[in-house]
Amino acid sequence: MAANRTFSIIKPDATRRNLTGAITAMLEEAGLRVVASKRIRMSREQAEGFYAVHKDRPFFADLVAFMISGPVVVQVLEGENAVKRNRDIMGATNPENADEGTIRKRFAESIEANSVHGSDSDENAAAEIAYFFKPEEIVG
Ligand code: PPS
Repeated sequence: MAANRTFSIIKPDATRRNLTGAITAMLEEAGLRVVASKRIRMSREQAEGFYAVHKDRPFFADLVAFMISGPVVVQVLEGENAVKRNRDIMGATNPENADEGTIRKRFAESIEANSVHGSDSDENAAAEIAYFFKPEEIVG
């Protein structure tokens, strides 16, 4: 299968604990290449737009507040089967259910402060990449 791309966020709980390098190393060791990366402070509007699919969920306000509580690192990752490869190394949303050896098992604090986001389909990956990056910012 040809290399393809996914979108990742290193969340505020992880940047606060200076884990950007440790998490990126785990992504790279899993066979993913960082082809774009930037550290940003998301605006409320940006976070609400990004998570709009969850706007009717009870945790939406908390999720948005958390995602704007500190810097995040948005990344484009490239590799064979990139979406699944990234989801596998991330581990389950709730760290209590995450497998040994995954990023969330190792670093996540809670279902909210769970250290990383990763796209769940190729279609969403394309949309999420376009939400944060211009094509010329991605260098494969
Ligand atoms: S669920 O419940 O399994 O459908 O949740 P999921 O679709 O995997 O989660 C979507 C994102 O919402 C975050 N989330 C929460 N934030 C705060 N509080 C609670 N209770 C909560 N439950 C889920 C979760 O971390 C997901 O964030 P992303 O950035 O998409 O990984």
